[in-house]
Amino acid sequence: MTSNSTAELDRLLSQALADISAAKDSSAVEQLRVGLLGRQGAVTGQLKLIGAQPPEERKTFGSAVNRVRDQLTEALSERASAVLVAEREAAIKAEQIDVTLPGRAGHSGSLHPVTKTLRRIEQIFTRAGFDIAHGPEIEDDFHNFEALNIPKNHPARAMHDTFYVSDETVLRTHTSPVQIRYLEKHTPPVAVIAPGRVYRCDSDVTHTPMFHQVEGLVVDSDVSFADLKGALVFFLEEFFEQDLPVRFRPSFFPFTEPSAEVDMGCVFCAGEGCRICGHTGWIEVLGCGMVHTEVFRQVGIDNETYTGYAFGLGIERLAMLRYGVDDLRLFFENEVSFLRQFS
Ligand code: DAH
Repeated sequence: MTSNSTAELDRLLSQALADISAAKDSSAVEQLRVGLLGRQGAVTGQLKLIGAQPPEERKTFGSAVNRVRDQLTEALSERASAVLVAEREAAIKAEQIDVTLPGRAGHSGSLHPVTKTLRRIEQIFTRAGFDIAHGPEIEDDFHNFEALNIPKNHPARAMHDTFYVSDETVLRTHTSPVQIRYLEKHTPPVAVIAPGRVYRCDSDVTHTPMFHQVEGLVVDSDVSFADLKGALVFFLEEFFEQDLPVRFRPSFFPFTEPSAEVDMGCVFCAGEGCRICGHTGWIEVLGCGMVHTEVFRQVGIDNETYTGYAFGLGIERLAMLRYGVDDLRLFFENEVSFLRQFS
């Protein structure tokens, strides 16, 4: 064996051992293994030279190369396990959760003031024995107008600022059509409220194109205006949790006769007169009246046997009065800082 090839092997070995102990991770170790022991590897290259040695040197050279290979194989496998342990520890550390850290505060939502107001209204009326009914928001001309004694070309239609879906279909302008739909399916005696969205082509400080109403309807064999008055005074006092002055002013609605608008004493100034009540001490809260005989005729109810009362109120309006909100638009902007006040 020539001193040349021994020196070559020694250099290879010490360089390889240095590289192996410097290898930082599994892939560096693997790269070294391929470079040394792989098919094109440096040690493999030496193994191939064994046969080329003169016969008398073959054995010594062969065992020297094999020793180098065994030594490097062991060094590589030791290094591989060492970096693997380090890598696992690093991974565990990275995934560690500090369970002693304080948690993030969760924000819980709350009901919208309009929803809260509606639920309150429903609660009061269901306790008084009323059923709850719903009708479609896309309504036909018959239910929204015709059956409520508002024929085509009736001037009352002009008050409604209707959104037309087609010639015969509208976005309902009030919840009154649910009176008709309910009477088409139920025979008196009935006592029902019908809450829901209504639409009018109107938008300013006190009007939004969509708002909410609750309709009320009671039909029985001897329902009188006194019953209507009693029911509404009961409702308003329950809703506002106080004794309130309530007054009925004569008014007109095509589907009721007689008709009235109901005012209550201003809850902001206790009737003294303020900006909210226009310095009158009164606030208008709803419309009502005795069901018109034409409405009964449209749904085939005998108006000799039956009488009824109906009313319609705006939910946003009641919410504003109850919570002291003076701008209708706040209900639709959904500012979190506004909504949070109702949680
Ligand atoms: N539908 C009416 C409106 O939207 C409100 C109303 C008035 C409903 C009188 C009634 C009623 O049931 O009797 O302006």
